[in-house]
Amino acid sequence: MLREILKTEIEKKGFVTFDRFVYLALYHPEYGYYTKKRTKPVPGEDFFTAPELSSIFGKVIANHIRKISEERNIPLRILELGGGKGFLAKDILSSLPVEEYIILEKNNVAKEIVHGVKIVENLNEIENFSGFVISNEFFDAFPFKRIRKINGELREVVLRKKGNELFEDTIPFTEEISCEPEEGCEYSLFTGWNSFLENLFKKFQSGYFLTIDYGDFCKNLRNRREGTFLSFRKNRIERDYLRFIGEVDLTSRVDFSHLKNLLAGYLTSIEIRPQSEFLLSEGIERFLSPEDAITALTLIVDMGRKFKVLSGFKN
Ligand SMILES: C[S@@+](CC[C@H](N)C(=O)[O-])C[C@H]1O[C@@H](n2cnc3c(N)ncnc32)[C@H](O)[C@@H]1O
Repeated sequence: MLREILKTEIEKKGFVTFDRFVYLALYHPEYGYYTKKRTKPVPGEDFFTAPELSSIFGKVIANHIRKISEERNIPLRILELGGGKGFLAKDILSSLPVEEYIILEKNNVAKEIVHGVKIVENLNEIENFSGFVISNEFFDAFPFKRIRKINGELREVVLRKKGNELFEDTIPFTEEISCEPEEGCEYSLFTGWNSFLENLFKKFQSGYFLTIDYGDFCKNLRNRREGTFLSFRKNRIERDYLRFIGEVDLTSRVDFSHLKNLLAGYLTSIEIRPQSEFLLSEGIERFLSPEDAITALTLIVDMGRKFKVLSGFKN
């Protein structure tokens, strides 16, 4: 069905931009990968995020929040962006006496897993907020464009159709870009971050911001011939993503240099560190039992190197 929707759009304009394609494939109200109703991750079909993998992750974050709340006198009110199925909320709520927990989420499955939270689909539904704004794998779930540099010219990937088949093509890219790909390389530009942050910080008055994501800095992302776009199906990289639209998770590595630049307009004391460093400095070992050894290794060593933690204060 998504294929038909895309084909109709392509017929009107000649192409669809890649960020429009990602938006439809992930968030079409009926057929999107994230908006289709699913509760638990299906082993073998979905990658587990850190909160889905283990409650230790949420316990460490809860402990971090408690510490910052005491040091800075920030109320224990939490707004979680893209809370997914609600696992992180559940673990934080079982560790901390939270006054209010709001989850911003486009799908509505969290309410089946966690109780005592308010789920909103849109930031317009919340009042001005002071407290903690947290997220895990949220900024990598925004639609993105794929920008290539070919013979010195920047071009963006679009989708066109031939008969029934969709295929990739490129058109000139003329907008400003803070991280330009090197010749022959491809960079993913998340297009909705700016306006999302503008809206968020209209509501977020004061407190602490913490986001964790899979990503790197511009200098390590702009020189990749294969780009940073990734498509997953049944726990594997799926190269033929156009065959499985709506069944594949489309994502890309977060550019923490770009995200930091955008957040610098709102936050102070921004820090970015590897997830491993964050978990170890927050004393993850205190929350582990012997049977958690494999999970701890995944969180600290495997994900710990690939994921980064960005934090800052809103005064
Ligand atoms: C990769 S999942 C991560 C879910 C969860 N944070 C976790 O770690 O398990 C990203 C989630 O963000 C949600 N999302 C992305 N953009 C959103 C937006 N603008 N508003 C609300 N939810 C959004 C998606 O629906 C999806 O559930």
